[in-house]
Amino acid sequence: MSTQTTHKKFYSAEPVRSRLLSTLWQHQIQDGCISQAVIQELASQHQLSEIEIEGVATFYHFFHQQPAGKHTIYLNNSILSKLKGFERIKESFERETGARTGSTDPTGTFGLYATPCIGLSDQEPAALIDFYPFTNLNAVKVKEIIQKLKQGKSAAEICDAPLDNIRFTPANNRTVFFAPYTRGEALNKLNELKPEGVIEQLRISELAGRGGAFFPTWKKWDTCRSYKDTPKFIVCNADEGEPGTFKDRVLLNNQPGSVLEGMIIAGYTVGAEYGVIYLRGEYQWLVHKLENEISAFHESGLLGPDAGGLPGFNFDIRVEIGAGAYVCGEETALLESMEGKRGEPRTKWFYPVEKGYLQLPTVVNNVETFAAVARLIQMGSFEYLKRGMPGSPGTKLISISGDCQRPGIYEIEWGMTVAELLDLCGAEDPYFIQVSGPSGECISIKEKYRRISMLDLMAQKDIRCGGAFMIFNSHRDLVHILINFSEFFKHESCGVCTPCRAGNFIIERKLERLKNGLADMNDLKELKSWGTIMKATSRCGLGKTASNSVIQALEKFDDYFTSRFAATDNSTYRKFDHLSAIAEYEHYKP
Ligand SMILES: Cc1cc2nc3c(=O)[nH]c(=O)nc-3n(C[C@H](O)[C@H](O)[C@H](O)COP(=O)(O)O)c2cc1C
Ligand code: SF4
Repeated sequence: MSTQTTHKKFYSAEPVRSRLLSTLWQHQIQDGCISQAVIQELASQHQLSEIEIEGVATFYHFFHQQPAGKHTIYLNNSILSKLKGFERIKESFERETGARTGSTDPTGTFGLYATPCIGLSDQEPAALIDFYPFTNLNAVKVKEIIQKLKQGKSAAEICDAPLDNIRFTPANNRTVFFAPYTRGEALNKLNELKPEGVIEQLRISELAGRGGAFFPTWKKWDTCRSYKDTPKFIVCNADEGEPGTFKDRVLLNNQPGSVLEGMIIAGYTVGAEYGVIYLRGEYQWLVHKLENEISAFHESGLLGPDAGGLPGFNFDIRVEIGAGAYVCGEETALLESMEGKRGEPRTKWFYPVEKGYLQLPTVVNNVETFAAVARLIQMGSFEYLKRGMPGSPGTKLISISGDCQRPGIYEIEWGMTVAELLDLCGAEDPYFIQVSGPSGECISIKEKYRRISMLDLMAQKDIRCGGAFMIFNSHRDLVHILINFSEFFKHESCGVCTPCRAGNFIIERKLERLKNGLADMNDLKELKSWGTIMKATSRCGLGKTASNSVIQALEKFDDYFTSRFAATDNSTYRKFDHLSAIAEYEHYKP
């Protein structure tokens, strides 16, 4: 399997249990699976029950209970990959390897699996082989790759280097993220600013978190700073699992120094000693780059004792690798995962700033937030405020994919309209646009004059974009897209709460009925009421947002659904039976 190295450094403040994910990775890589013998061994080492260890190992998609092949291939089955030829590529891999999707070939050389979005939506069809990236696949390329692997080459030797595809930055050097970078320039400001000055700069610049919730960064840091418990932690959320989103991948590849500087600034401001980058398993190919950058920071005195030349400020950063679970992007699930547990979101008695990692004060921020902090501190809030619009200063990174000529990363100033952005990327006959991934908002082309900003969320005048535009033209089947989204949420629900566990299953079944011409108005009403129940009663953002796109599509694409009903053959109509659907789910659930 993979030749990637997982980071083995842990801090003395961390308990042994925090190493569990890293240890499971080592076994997965060495043995191709987590065997029952390993589970027993780890249970005795950690003085935990076998069930507890097995519960963790089985939570994550990338840990297998049976050998997953000498070479393990993961194909992205997101809607964007499906539109770009997923089925063809799957057949090519099956033909060349002799493996059926979901299993290994008879010799155990190749394991072939489908997985949700791998963060390469601008270069689909794409796959990970032994966690190295292969992009823009076609049948000939697949054949060559498999031949080379059979000849003994490693995936590391023959993989692609994904392009950053930075397609647009604001004119007149107004880019925030992609200006020439000099290591340590932002940190040089800290001596003069002091923690209070950093908070003030963030407050003036109105920087809000880029992980989706737009929480004011200064408030989060100031609150964490106010807690006295030590040690404190800074966690960079690099789990980027929202299908269609790849902006953090590009930042980590293109601007790793800015991300590290943002984390160090956070550490200095709140009084933290330790930093952790929680990197999604799909981005392991970036580990060496990040570790090299961390080493360079150490060599320059920007990490370690008296980091950045600031007396008494000791700060270090390590990388933790996730193992395939979208819900681990939710900050409390991420912290559970770092503690070596199942990535199940916590009940929200406390915010992480008070009781986070190991129940200690922890700042969790998105990759883009940290990069923005470094640039903002370097240029000063006065300069930063010249970008964007009143109430939404600065710029925003947007990953664009789907039916357009120029998929890639767009750094826009807040205030740009949807129409301008569609024009920039060469959108082709845009009909259905999914903003911020499947959990976000879907819009129709009728809404093209809405601005992209942080304002007017309640009035729904402007659009808040978390980081992605997926563009679908009028020939794409809307129900097909929505089914793909609901399959994703069903697959990724951690299953702790019933509304999300059963609701996602029911939504998918109802969409299937719609696809098959069996749905009636009652089904649509029930789709909406399940959406409302899930929003109101789910524990975390996954369940609360999973029905967004379906509900909004029903409202905004009335013409499409009406034509679907016109095609309904009432003679075959069967009423949807919730109880038997739930019973069926309980039967089939993993
Ligand atoms: C299901 C789910 C997945 C999430 N995935 C991510 C993610 O991949 N990256 C991220 O930064 N935030 C993600 N979030 C939001 C985080 O919980 C958290 O709000 C964010 O990391 C805070 O950083 P920010 O203040 O810089 O936005 C997710 C939330 C939910 C509910
Ligand atoms: S809403 Fe879904 S993902 Fe979130 S805790 Fe409940 S079951 Fe888990």
